[in-house]
Amino acid sequence: MFGVLKDSDKRFKNLLNGDWVGSESNQFIDIYSPLDQSLLGSVPAMTKNEVDITMATAKRAQKQWKLKTVNERADILYKAADLLLEHIEELAHLLMLEIGKDMKSSRSEVSRTADFIRFTADSGKNVSGESIPGDSFPGFKNNKVSVVKREPLGVVLAISPFNYPVNLAASKIAPALIIGNSVVLKPATQGSLSGLYLARIFQLAGVPLGVLNTVTGKGSEIGDYITTHKDVDFINFTGSTEVGRRISKLTSMVPLLMELGGKDAAIVLEDADLEMTASQIVAGAFSYSGQRCTAVKRIIVMESVADELVQRLEEKIGQLKVGNPLEHESLDVVPLISTKAADFVSELMEDAVEKGAELVTGGHRTGNLIEPTLFDYVTTHMRLAWEEPFGPVVPVIRVKSKEEAIEIANESEYGLQSSVFTQNIEDAFYIADQLEVGTVQVNNKTERGPDHFPFLGVKSSGMGTQGIRYSIESMSRPKATIINLHR
Ligand code: NAP
Ligand code: G3H
Repeated sequence: MFGVLKDSDKRFKNLLNGDWVGSESNQFIDIYSPLDQSLLGSVPAMTKNEVDITMATAKRAQKQWKLKTVNERADILYKAADLLLEHIEELAHLLMLEIGKDMKSSRSEVSRTADFIRFTADSGKNVSGESIPGDSFPGFKNNKVSVVKREPLGVVLAISPFNYPVNLAASKIAPALIIGNSVVLKPATQGSLSGLYLARIFQLAGVPLGVLNTVTGKGSEIGDYITTHKDVDFINFTGSTEVGRRISKLTSMVPLLMELGGKDAAIVLEDADLEMTASQIVAGAFSYSGQRCTAVKRIIVMESVADELVQRLEEKIGQLKVGNPLEHESLDVVPLISTKAADFVSELMEDAVEKGAELVTGGHRTGNLIEPTLFDYVTTHMRLAWEEPFGPVVPVIRVKSKEEAIEIANESEYGLQSSVFTQNIEDAFYIADQLEVGTVQVNNKTERGPDHFPFLGVKSSGMGTQGIRYSIESMSRPKATIINLHR
């Protein structure tokens, strides 16, 4: 069933109008595993001409797709969810090899995605409109009514990042499809094999010809062309702030939904339950080596409890499972996605050491595997206080007051999430109200789920709101038909 994705030389194909097609130019990008550098396959570096054909196909197909009933579209999504679970082992294994996520977490990415797709189908069936009487506005009589329903936008360009190649692709595709859009998926290059596998699942579930298509190629080469393509009606992007900013500069009159980088702070007050706080922070900071937008990326703690918190953090970091997913089923810290990524983390650590931070634990690197690392006494003139490592390194910043904690938290260019650990609900609300972020977690690590909650970043962390219902709304618009009675 998945043989159609590639030829005997492991050269993968793209989904175009219901067919798996090879490369026009014969240019391919090799995909190596970050775990043992083995060659997993190669994907076409698509040409502009191929992109044009793909976009035109998606545009044409959308006109029929939007006419299907929502029940017909939902049935296809339910089938896709079932198929994902049927193939969970195979897909999780591919994820593990391609992006270095341990098998346990890879399986959980696939099953969460099946839940996401099913919930999206349910939510799509519950989208409703409204009718608004005209006479509620001053000066109007009771002779007009606006019947408002939601319409799809057209062709959605979905661009996904490497760290959740299945989940963060499906969380764009499913809401787009259920409301009647067609989709062109551009997966992260490292993650594209998993993205193509997902596209095959949707195809097998019955998505009609041309309604879902894929484009592979390096974002740095093909990105500008696809994001400014005349046939694209909406862009849903997840990735770095740098690329998000570029897309937002280059595009015009195309609505954007962007989830970008973060520097999520865990603020710890004097009265926090330090045992629970330390467990939450360690889980939040180090799972998948901190390669999550919502990872806890700095700890801002009241001086009076800092020593005790640091001691508990050190203890728990010592219990983390570190290694290579090829050898262990369940791990917290795994090799980073690339040498470039690991070099960047090393740079941030060196800067912190040079500027006087105290290394509590970790700090060593073997290849691209970086030990879970905690720095104490990090100050605001160190890069680690502000930059997103996307790796297993967390700074502790000691503060004297709630106000100082809030000020440092808000000085960041990012505004994805923050946590506040306290047993005082008034303090929790006071701080939550001041923080410039999309979501504040009280007594919990920062994290995206459950996936029907709104998920958004402010400042450089994004624009627009995701979350199942919110994504469906973002990828549709109101259409008003006004009935006028002349009586
Ligand atoms: P990235 O380098 O920005 O890449 C994201 C996607 O954009 C990939 O598909 C990439 O393709 C593509 N791309 C690159 N240049 C492009 C261009 N000029 N135009 C259009 N697309 C382009 O990010 P990443 O390394 O995959 O992911 C890590 C970053 O994503 C971190 O900053 C993390 O915080 C952020 N992230 C945020 C969220 C969130 O929900 N807020 C979730 C996950 C990740 P190629 O792979 O071919 O370059
Ligand atoms: O990497 C960004 C993801 O949206 C984070 O999702 O909090 O469920 O790991 P997560």
